[in-house]
Amino acid sequence: MLSNQSADPAKRTSLHGHWSSRMAFILAVTGSAVGLGNVWKFPYVTGQNGGGAFVLIYLACVAIIGMPVMMSEILMGRRGRRNPIATMKLLGAEEGKSTNWSLVGAMGIVAGVLILSYYSVVGGWTLFYVMKSAVGTFHAIGPGEITDIRNGFLGSWSMVGLFHTIFMALTIFVVARGVERGLEQAVRFMVPALLLLMIVLLGYAISSGHFDEGLAFMFRPDFDSLTWNSVLAAMGQAFFTLSIGMGAVMAYGAYLPEETSISGASAAVALSDTVIAILAGLVIFPLVFANDLDPADGPGLVFITLPLAFSQMAGGVFFSTVFFVLLTFAAWTSAISLMEPAVAWIVEKFNRTRAQAAVLIGLLIWATGFGTVLSFNVLANFRFWRGTIFDNLDHLTINIMLPLGGMLIVIFAGWVMCRNSTADELGGSGAVYRLWRFLARIVAPIGILFVFLKAVGLLPSLT
Ligand code: PFF
Repeated sequence: MLSNQSADPAKRTSLHGHWSSRMAFILAVTGSAVGLGNVWKFPYVTGQNGGGAFVLIYLACVAIIGMPVMMSEILMGRRGRRNPIATMKLLGAEEGKSTNWSLVGAMGIVAGVLILSYYSVVGGWTLFYVMKSAVGTFHAIGPGEITDIRNGFLGSWSMVGLFHTIFMALTIFVVARGVERGLEQAVRFMVPALLLLMIVLLGYAISSGHFDEGLAFMFRPDFDSLTWNSVLAAMGQAFFTLSIGMGAVMAYGAYLPEETSISGASAAVALSDTVIAILAGLVIFPLVFANDLDPADGPGLVFITLPLAFSQMAGGVFFSTVFFVLLTFAAWTSAISLMEPAVAWIVEKFNRTRAQAAVLIGLLIWATGFGTVLSFNVLANFRFWRGTIFDNLDHLTINIMLPLGGMLIVIFAGWVMCRNSTADELGGSGAVYRLWRFLARIVAPIGILFVFLKAVGLLPSLT
């Protein structure tokens, strides 16, 4: 039995240390939330799913599903104070219910490994763009040349693999050193800097002459052309961007001091994450239209639009280098959190050091990543189910595993845990608590289930 396994949740401590303050926790979760999901993924899935209606559903999912899931994860993490598998097992037992809920934690760990396997490949892509920006490659060139550079990079499995390897090495390095050291400082600087640069880019997008078009694309909903698969993608995006549904936030919650307000921290994280994603869209779509690009271009969209913006801008070499450095940092702080549940599990379960656990899990993820590395070149025509290996991993994790994990997490917090336990963590049973409980017990689980069933065509339409 672990020495920290006190029967009184308030007396439990984490084996991995604690955040130094409330702000440190908010910064760490923001660092996890803000990443490639905001700048890379949000614009391209919005583009692929037709814009406006998708964005509205995404926002609604953040508010009524994402928020209660995030609060549930944090409260469970803080109460259990260990890795997600052990936390759910302990809390299940404590509530006098099944300990098999630990399987939800296990699914989260697997999801984290799979997500990081391709996240790291895109992180490597960002790193490559840092290098290209710094040497001035993007200076004063047009869309055709930028597309050639992107396709040339993606076409070379050894280059994509090399940068994936560097990115993974950086991630293993930080995780091995411990959660707080370095992370807090990095995020404190990175999020405001990223925000500032996005605002500079927004100014540029406004001056592109196609801002109205971009704005209309993002906010004029056309529900007629929306499919249930797009709704599923919007919900998946909400989970992905907030880092919820797989235990990352639960693992971070395990290091949270007792007195911090969970609802306040969740709201701060969700708000800053959403602002950055919307800003990214507002920057990218006007540029897409100004340059006659296709909004549905897919995963490479920002890797064309952004260099294009910088190539035409005064001081573009400087700005694009800074921008891609910041994006790499943002990806890095998210990657760390994707590994945390698995690493915490190995440390606790097998009594290993953080460094050993990080290297072990990191190597596994690195090797899995080659499935994605090859999806853009050698195995680009190897397609099944949803497309390439990357497409399948992406769909399986973001659109299925995260919402499913999230649904089971809110069911656990809302139905398995008793009122006293959750009220205790959420600071009493006032209006915020009642709203959380209603969303966690009813709205979120039913909403997620409904979208799942609709997307696979199991619910008939009424019209
Ligand atoms: N939220 C991150 C992003 O938007 O880039 C991705 C992510 C991190 C997803 C951690 C899930 C997670 F657990």
